[in-house]
Parts: sequence; structure tokens; C-alpha cells
Amino acid sequence: MLINQNTQQPLRPEDIQVGSLTFAMPEGMKEEDHDFQNQIAKAALMLVRLRPENIKDKKELDWSVDGIVAFSKICTHVGCPINLYEQQTHHVLCPCHQSTFDLSDGGRVVFGPGRPRPSAAADQGQ
Ligand code: FES
Repeated sequence: MLINQNTQQPLRPEDIQVGSLTFAMPEGMKEEDHDFQNQIAKAALMLVRLRPENIKDKKELDWSVDGIVAFSKICTHVGCPINLYEQQTHHVLCPCHQSTFDLSDGGRVVFGPGRPRPSAAADQGQ
């Protein structure tokens, strides 16, 4: 089960409003766990509910549920947590080097050094 990262409450699809972005994480992770920061770095998610007509990459409809799509919160550049969302454009911004991703277009990089998807080197922490 996923929980809202801010409220720590269980997330239901109806909790996610159209156009809104919700930060989520798996239930059961606790800040007092010795490797919490490492765990949350790998598991943090962004959930956004989009209207079908606002989804540019129609393949995204295949992996959405009721218009809700999930993306890793971790930037594909060097791994900073993404934390800014622009509701009108469905763009998210990484504060470290300003990479901008379009959540309505499969997370496509629209600006900055972010990669379309993590490279093998990034996966290995290089
Ligand atoms: S880590 Fe996100 S742009 Fe560099």
C-alpha cells in the first residue's frame, strides 16, 4: 500500500484530484530505520491524475489507472529529489540543476541535463 508522504495516511485513488501531484511512499518505512534515507531515495513516488485528453504520450494511458500515473521522485540526472510541480503544464522541476520533466508526456525531459531514463551508471551510483 502507498501512503501520502506528507500526511502519512493511506492513499486511495479518489484522494488524488485531477491535476494535483501527490508525493507517495510505500507503507511501513519509518524515519527511525537506520537506512530510511537510502530507502526513501529509492522508493519515493510522484502520483498525478491527468485527464486523458491532457496526456500527450498515449502509451501513458496503458500504465495509468483512472488517469493516475506514477513516476519516481528521483531526478534522472544525478538523483536529487524532484519537488516542484507546475499544475498548468504538468511539468516537474528538479531544484539541483533545473531539469524539467513533462509528466503528461511520459516524463519527457523538456529542459536541463536530466536523462530520458536513468542510465546504468546512475543506477550503480556512478
Ligand atoms: S540532479 Fe536533477 S537536474 Fe541535476
